[in-house]
Amino acid sequence: MKLAILGGGGFRTPHVWEALIRDTATPRVTDVVLMDTDAHRLAAMKAVLDSLAVGFDAPALTSTTDLREALTGADFVFAAIRVGGLDGRCCDEHVALDLGVLGQETTGPGGLAYALRTIPVMRHVAEVMQEVSSPRAYLLNFTNPAGIITEAVQEVLGDRVLGICDTPSGLGRRVALALGKDASRVQMDYVGLNHLGWMRRVLVDGADLLPQLLADDAALSTMEEAEVFGLPWLRTLGVIPNEYLYYYYDNKDAVAAIRAAKQTRGDFLKVTQTRFYDTVLDQPDAGAYWRAAVDERGASYMAEAKGRQQGDPNPHQQDEVHDSDPADEGYAGVALKVMKAISRNERATMILNVRNRGTVHALPDDAVVEVPTMVDANGVHPLALETQPTLHQLGLMASVKSVERLVIEAATKGDPQRAFQAFGQHPLVGSIRVAGGLVDGYRAAIPQVDAVLGRR
Ligand code: G6P
Ligand code: MN
Repeated sequence: MKLAILGGGGFRTPHVWEALIRDTATPRVTDVVLMDTDAHRLAAMKAVLDSLAVGFDAPALTSTTDLREALTGADFVFAAIRVGGLDGRCCDEHVALDLGVLGQETTGPGGLAYALRTIPVMRHVAEVMQEVSSPRAYLLNFTNPAGIITEAVQEVLGDRVLGICDTPSGLGRRVALALGKDASRVQMDYVGLNHLGWMRRVLVDGADLLPQLLADDAALSTMEEAEVFGLPWLRTLGVIPNEYLYYYYDNKDAVAAIRAAKQTRGDFLKVTQTRFYDTVLDQPDAGAYWRAAVDERGASYMAEAKGRQQGDPNPHQQDEVHDSDPADEGYAGVALKVMKAISRNERATMILNVRNRGTVHALPDDAVVEVPTMVDANGVHPLALETQPTLHQLGLMASVKSVERLVIEAATKGDPQRAFQAFGQHPLVGSIRVAGGLVDGYRAAIPQVDAVLGRR
């Protein structure tokens, strides 16, 4: 089996590789091709992967900057690309912050600017896949904003694209740990959109243990979500929100904290990642060097939500598992499980971004939602929900979904008016003046956004 990794020069590629080299059952991935538009990053990551493969019966590994070559004959395609690179991420943040609203990679206006320039590129990927990849090839999409991109690509690939995010499984892992339960026996009742979901029940041997967890100060406090939201908020909600809901529930404080900080997340990563890519090829052990950089990066993930700044040391690092990515879970674990389910019919249930098909009654059937989904050789099957989302949850999901669809239309038609509507309808913008400023600001700052909106 051939796997193409688009954005293969990206920093998280080794997580996928580490999962692959440990997986020796059949059929397995025998050929991996890394594809990236940036040859420098590609060479760096190739060195890291070669270093990590020492001592393993690893798949054959090649790299290319040619998309068609990478996709030819592929059985699975992973995509984790960032159109516009880290410069783009910094603009996603700063244009919005300068207008006084949330500047964040995926949530709020920054995510919309990221989507606008990425949708045409990912649709092109899907079209080339249709031409040259294996006829049943699946696209496992990590490209953010994952929900929007997956929905835009569904129009080309149907159910052969699914969106993956590590936050629901991360939440599940923390809950299992807090309860002292084996994560594989815990079933999460989760519903939402990507980066906008709620864990409503935690089933273990048929019983819902969430009320017990919410009542237990000590256990609950071990979770990152307790630090982000505070115990009183979790208790009054009675559910555990995805950590990205911090940007909604605590929007004013989040914006203030990010604006007051010396650097945004993007600024911090631009410095630290540039240093990493410029120096990794000189290291005697590129794999170990990458691992240390993973820890450094993970330490200030969502620092603003924890009263810290980018680059500050993290006093809780030991307890927080973000990005440490144990082989069977997290970023790469979920992807590998999906591949095994499809290629070996190892049926598994995971929280994935898939077509709604009536799962959430109030949303369109073809809207992509993030819900527990059974995957097997026949494809993806979202599970029926025992209870529908509350009005609060549904309201937020519906208004963000409407915004996402406007963005997809704006990007596919090259329509700045649709983009204006999308920014103006976003619940975290709340100003027509700012919405107009966002369209103009993103077009001025990011050439790829201007190119997409100026097509007509
Ligand atoms: C989580 C989210 C991803 C997001 C990443 C940002 O893993 O699920 O969607 O891209 O965090 O982490 P970073 O280190 O890039 O700030
Ligand atoms: Mn994510």
